[in-house]
Amino acid sequence: MGSLYNSFLIIHSWNRWLILLSGIALVVFLIYSLSNNQNFNKSMKSLALTFLGSLHIQLLIGLILYVFLSPFTQAAFNDFGNAMKNSGLRFWAVEHFMINIVGIALAHTGYVLSKRKLNDKAKQKTLLIWTSIALLIIVLAIPMGIYGAERPWFRF
Ligand code: HEM
Repeated sequence: MGSLYNSFLIIHSWNRWLILLSGIALVVFLIYSLSNNQNFNKSMKSLALTFLGSLHIQLLIGLILYVFLSPFTQAAFNDFGNAMKNSGLRFWAVEHFMINIVGIALAHTGYVLSKRKLNDKAKQKTLLIWTSIALLIIVLAIPMGIYGAERPWFRF
């Protein structure tokens, strides 16, 4: 395996945990603060920015893997018609990429919309709804055996 390919795969794999942990923590904090009538505070803002920032890094690394480095996407680009009949290749060439782009766009939209709200409660509710949906979509697109794309949970 090429060392550049391997390094990008390791970063992409570990950054997944930063995305999941910051996203879950943000959802838990928002539920807690909404049910206890608390204001949108600094730690929630930092969590929201960590979630968004790690998603953007993931998108950048993912695109580099997708376009230049991954032997799976290269094999799919060579014969796209045939790749669509193979669940493993289809997962990398279409499903993982497209579903995650939608998830990242939803997370970003939620952050922008919540910033526009003047009322603190509306800000938190908007962020909670969009972040939860984005997180669910992103979790569904994580490579797993059921998609024919089994990957290590912790890559070294
Ligand atoms: C939040 C979004 C994302 C998450 C959580 C995620 C997660 C993952 C994980 C866990 C892997 C397996 C890494 C390993 O083998 O250890 C992977 C591989 C990969 N991802 Fe993502 N990813 C995301 C977004 C994207 C996007 C947007 C793209 C494309 C633009 C992308 C393209 C790829 C490619 C090409 C591979 C490598 C396939 C190979 O083994 O050659 N990912 N991703």
